[in-house]
Amino acid sequence: MIDYEKKGFFNIHTLVNKDNANISNSDNKHIYSQLMSGNGNSPMLGYLLNMNKQNLNDFKSIMFYNESNLASLINEAREMEELIDSSTLFLSKTNKKIKTHFSKVLEQRHSTRNFVYETMDLSTFSNIIQFSFGLSTRKLVYNDLQSTTRHYSSGGGLYPIDVFLYINNISGIAKGIYKYQPYTHSLHPLEVDKIDVESFFVGDNIDTSNMNFCVFFGYSINKNYVKYGELSLLNTFVELGGISHNFDLVCHSVHYTSCPIAGFNKSYLEKLLYLDGINDHIIFSNICGKE
Ligand SMILES: Cc1cc2nc3c(=O)[nH]c(=O)nc-3n(C[C@H](O)[C@H](O)[C@H](O)COP(=O)(O)O)c2cc1C
Repeated sequence: MIDYEKKGFFNIHTLVNKDNANISNSDNKHIYSQLMSGNGNSPMLGYLLNMNKQNLNDFKSIMFYNESNLASLINEAREMEELIDSSTLFLSKTNKKIKTHFSKVLEQRHSTRNFVYETMDLSTFSNIIQFSFGLSTRKLVYNDLQSTTRHYSSGGGLYPIDVFLYINNISGIAKGIYKYQPYTHSLHPLEVDKIDVESFFVGDNIDTSNMNFCVFFGYSINKNYVKYGELSLLNTFVELGGISHNFDLVCHSVHYTSCPIAGFNKSYLEKLLYLDGINDHIIFSNICGKE
């Protein structure tokens, strides 16, 4: 029997795709072949074709940042961006060493979208956040400057990605949206009237009711565009992959599971997190729970 609702998806015989009014005529196979023949525009292909092309303005700013060690200066001052008041929640500083063997963690890592409802204790949560997004104990010393580092690499040491969390089931932390503050290893709550958790992700395959928490990665263009220009996006996406994968590995190492999620509701989340969607964007998400 033909499922008429799905028929449009499978009708590969609809070869005439010039009629723009008929949106079911378009599919990625046709779009792709038109792009390869140079008959269409794609922001993604445009970016890829021009990637790594650097102009004089890029060399000027890159050299200025490198010669003046500006990233270290900026990082020294970034603690002042963090909000400390009576609502700030400081996470545990006494982090336990991860004892699970690294090869075992690599072998066991897998994506999980369904969880059992089990409260995560605060120290496990602090540990996951510290090793995934926090400052590392390693310091870089340049003459009179001391620069902080993290457990992941970052183009030019500029760390343009911020971490927002929705806490669902962690002992000692109220449900809600928080911004993670790495310098003070703390959470600052965002005042949000109404949170519609079901609108976080596209579709219904992510178990938001049983998860312990989820992570939204925010990117502020100004943090690295002023140095790298158009190269910034590549740097940011590579850094993002590093952070998200680190998070997957850390979760598995403490016997929780995770799932990187590109299917998030960008505009809903940006509105919720007071991000303007111009300079500040949500670019990826991840989720953590007990399988
Ligand atoms: C960049 C990226 C985006 C992803 N987006 C989604 C997503 O939107 N929804 C989802 O259910 N899984 C998503 N995943 C998880 C993949 O489906 C999963 O990694 C893949 O099926 C391989 O399975 P494994 O992670 O268990 O090895 C994503 C993974 C990556 C790396």
